Amino acid sequence: MFLLNGEHRHCVDVSDRGFQYGDGLFETVEVLQGKPLFFDRHLIRLAEGCRRLRIPMPDTALLDREARQLCESSERAVLKLMVTRGSGGRGYRQPEQIVPTRLFSLHPYPDYPLQFQTDGIAARFCEQRLSLNPSLAGIKHMNRLEQILARAEWQDDSIQEGLMLDTQDRVVEGTMSNLFIVKSGSLYTPPLGQCGVAGIVRQLVMEFAQRIKLPLFEQAIDQTAVLHADELFVSNSVIGIWPIKRLEAQVFNVGVITRRLQDLLNTARMAEV
Ligand SMILES: Cc1ncc(COP(=O)(O)O)c(C=O)c1O
Repeated sequence: MFLLNGEHRHCVDVSDRGFQYGDGLFETVEVLQGKPLFFDRHLIRLAEGCRRLRIPMPDTALLDREARQLCESSERAVLKLMVTRGSGGRGYRQPEQIVPTRLFSLHPYPDYPLQFQTDGIAARFCEQRLSLNPSLAGIKHMNRLEQILARAEWQDDSIQEGLMLDTQDRVVEGTMSNLFIVKSGSLYTPPLGQCGVAGIVRQLVMEFAQRIKLPLFEQAIDQTAVLHADELFVSNSVIGIWPIKRLEAQVFNVGVITRRLQDLLNTARMAEV
């Protein structure tokens, strides 16, 4: 199901700058019992992305109304929202009047086994690096070539996620998720000022940590620190929190802190519906 600029269509003009240049932003939202979860937070990140890319942010009340309308009769689904700079301009030069394109699409919820949540997943380190670019760091812009190259590195279905390093050997995030490690009772997550996407679930996890007085550090993490973690997990809006039970040859237990954060996330999700 699609909603393109408020109409039930899905054919975007080939001159759209989203198609031409990846000149846009997107959000991927979990839908549960007809509700787009944490949609207010997604809109805040989208607005920040629009501000950074200088795309006029579509009216949030309108986006909210359209999102709710599209999700209404879905028990569980994934809602994707894209906002592009629309058509026009010459080459990279922007048109004087920017008329953004907004596209909602509703997709079936992926059939991930429940064990990914309960027992954890296997992960690997990717060769593909994330480049450093503070002006694009944190936002969910439409240029995802590094993640695509990284995801193309493995076909083995027993591995669910690849961890990506930046060009200075710091582990930043997964190809589609943010990364947390637990060490000696403290929670660590890499800073995202140079690269990476500031995840909605990452933000929630950080708020939970504060609430339960779990020491939290936004701090650069290298490969050795990741491999020596007591607990390890990745997060995103669709998967929630997946513990990592194996990274390369290293095996991890699903720890109590990961479980606690999963419980808090589930409670917060239920409060949204
Ligand atoms: C590269 C990357 N990092 C992090 C995330 C997590 O973001 P969120 O928690 O907002 O889903 C995603 C989500 O798709 C992602 O693609």
